Amino acid sequence: MRNLVMALLFVGGVSLATDGAKIFKSKGCASCHQPTAETVGPSLKKIAGAYAGKKADLVKFLKGQGKAIVDPAKEAIMRPQLTMIKNLPEDQLEALADFILKHK
Ligand code: HEC
Repeated sequence: MRNLVMALLFVGGVSLATDGAKIFKSKGCASCHQPTAETVGPSLKKIAGAYAGKKADLVKFLKGQGKAIVDPAKEAIMRPQLTMIKNLPEDQLEALADFILKHK
């Protein structure tokens, strides 16, 4: 019984993560953000570190209402990207934030 519960929790977690990952890829975010390497944009690991314990702030940023805290000097490159996602439903933005935060 306990194993079954664990398995269900595991499957639930994965489907949520997959959802966020899917949005991240389909919106072209992956072309500038790698899991650990610094490329055009900061790595997901770096972003997850900056937003550790601050998921609400991250969701706010994704909605275009926050301020850049990771690399403010390059905010002009990131800001226009938000037009593609800022109007997504809340649960999709949360899934996206969860996906990013997983890289810590
Ligand atoms: C053209 C390249 C590019 C694309 C495409 C891109 N980003 Fe970025 N992103 C950047 C750069 C450069 C920064 C660093 C500036 C900054 O911190 O805002 C950044 C920073 C961020 C940050 C950190 C914000 C902060 O507080 O500093 C998040 C979160 C983020 N991007 C998410 C996304 C998501 C989600 C997508 C897809 C919709 C995306 N990015 C697409 C270049 C890009």
